[in-house]
Amino acid sequence: MSKTIIRFGLFADMHYADPALTSPHSALSLAKLGSCIDHFNSTQVPLAFNLGDSVEMIKESSLKIRYLEMVRKACARYSGILYAVLGNHDVETVGKQKFLSLCGSPFRETCYSVDVGKVRFIVLDGNYNRNGADIVIGQYQWDDLWLPEKQLQWLAKELQTDMPVIILCHECLDDAMFEGAMDPHIIRNSASARAIIEKSGKVIAVFEGHYHPGRMMSLNGIPYIAVTSMVLGESREKNAYAFVSVKEDGTIEVEGYGMQPSYHPDARRTLCQTHPSPERIL
Ligand SMILES: [Fe+2]
Repeated sequence: MSKTIIRFGLFADMHYADPALTSPHSALSLAKLGSCIDHFNSTQVPLAFNLGDSVEMIKESSLKIRYLEMVRKACARYSGILYAVLGNHDVETVGKQKFLSLCGSPFRETCYSVDVGKVRFIVLDGNYNRNGADIVIGQYQWDDLWLPEKQLQWLAKELQTDMPVIILCHECLDDAMFEGAMDPHIIRNSASARAIIEKSGKVIAVFEGHYHPGRMMSLNGIPYIAVTSMVLGESREKNAYAFVSVKEDGTIEVEGYGMQPSYHPDARRTLCQTHPSPERIL
């Protein structure tokens, strides 16, 4: 078995909010996050990624800020470095720069790359309208999100590396279908991103949030894994998060907890765990 060169944590779509405002599941997310952080700390995993949508859709900016601060406080217990991937509900009310300061990100860029050990992590920002404008609540459609051309050019540049690369994006970049058309959770110009990703020959996995049931598929040898959302489970015990091990041979292994399935590279041929109905479309 190939040696692990780095291990990191992952979670997605907490959609935290007061239960009076939304589904009762959302209020459980802070407790679920606490359990997840405890597990990350007990295994001393040195870095983790929050795949976005920490808070539910809320129009009132002061309330949104309060919830984001509560999430940040809960995340502050993590002993490693937590990187933020921007979700549509994170930024739609308060804006991207305000969100970055509220979540305690070490970066001021909304998309960024970071090299840890011998692995490059590239975080994308899919929270744009077709015309390249940032999304704003009431002025965007959750199923019409795009990666601007400038960001695709930046991605191609960042992929010029000798290191294996892991890509993270809140919105999906795979090619799942729904009712005969592109699944609405997918970035509209994801085919352009996939072409760049495949051409580079460097990407060993793509991790996504946004699609709450989660799914996994392999496209031209690259695993695309949409992490099951933390808010999905109706009880505190039904959490969802994962540890990912990057192997020396360039494969990855996902150790899923709660509702998040595990993935082992030997099972790649059977990797097509899709869910037919995108309930809780967000
Ligand atoms: Fe989302």
